[in-house]
Amino acid sequence: MTDKTIADLIEDRFGLPTEDGKDMPAEGELAAILRHRSHRQFTDTPVPDELVRIALAAAFSAPAKSDLQQASVIVVEDPAARAALNEQINDPWVTAAPKLLVFCGDSRRLRRISEARGKPFPNDHLDAFLNCAVDAGIVLATFIRAAEALGLGCCPISVIRNKIEHASDVLGLPDHVFPLAGMGLGWPARDGWISLRLPPSVTVHTDRYDDSALLPEIDAYDRRRDARFSIPAEKQRLTEVYGVADFYGWSEDKARQYAVPQRKQLAAFLKSKRFNLD
Ligand SMILES: Cc1cc2nc3c(=O)[nH]c(=O)nc-3n(C[C@H](O)[C@H](O)[C@H](O)COP(=O)(O)O)c2cc1C
Repeated sequence: MTDKTIADLIEDRFGLPTEDGKDMPAEGELAAILRHRSHRQFTDTPVPDELVRIALAAAFSAPAKSDLQQASVIVVEDPAARAALNEQINDPWVTAAPKLLVFCGDSRRLRRISEARGKPFPNDHLDAFLNCAVDAGIVLATFIRAAEALGLGCCPISVIRNKIEHASDVLGLPDHVFPLAGMGLGWPARDGWISLRLPPSVTVHTDRYDDSALLPEIDAYDRRRDARFSIPAEKQRLTEVYGVADFYGWSEDKARQYAVPQRKQLAAFLKSKRFNLD
């Protein structure tokens, strides 16, 4: 039993008071979802393969567009492949993660089935890419839920796409398969923390999209987030261009992060894997 309520967990997540869920105990799946946190520090205790298989079984229980099931996961076990990916990703927490998996959008399987069934495939356009990317994202998110239910900790790794051709070569990805994100997995070495989310006033709209109050809402969010966890001056990005800000909130951090090009080669890579992006 817990004295906490679902309302308490929603408050922890958004940093805003709420009455929603004040009569619901903070238990079960809903509470686990609200308590989600990424883990990037792990103990040395190995993760049994059985638990990885269980988490994957749960992950692939996720819904899939038209039941087409267009996701694949590569469990990286070969030490040479792992070392090559570690070197590419170049982040100490990934190197130290006991397990590494890679979640892929997979439009190949359906095309092979169509061919084997002697059918045309007239749907070779952007929707084919979107559908498998979404399926892979839902499998990834469900894997996180399952891993956390097992007491494991994990964190996705989109950095694997920084040198996507390299990752693809190491993993032997064929045409129409692309790596969406890696996943570091292990037993959490610490509790981690709840990362404050944007308020529903920004992310949830009623009937019609309305972002007229966006900037003051973001400003208030920056302040709430900073009150809980201030980004230290040495972690500010691009200080050589923008200087050290007196107040450095989430929005300044994200604007600076996206002020430099990232992964401009993605479309070229996807085209090289014969995805039609038109
Ligand atoms: C698709 C995806 C890719 C991500 N890639 C990375 C990554 O490359 N490196 C990293 O440290 N965290 C990565 N993350 C984790 C996010 O930074 C994290 O989810 C976010 O900061 C919110 O924190 P929380 O998950 O603890 O709530 C990724 C998350 C997602 C969903």
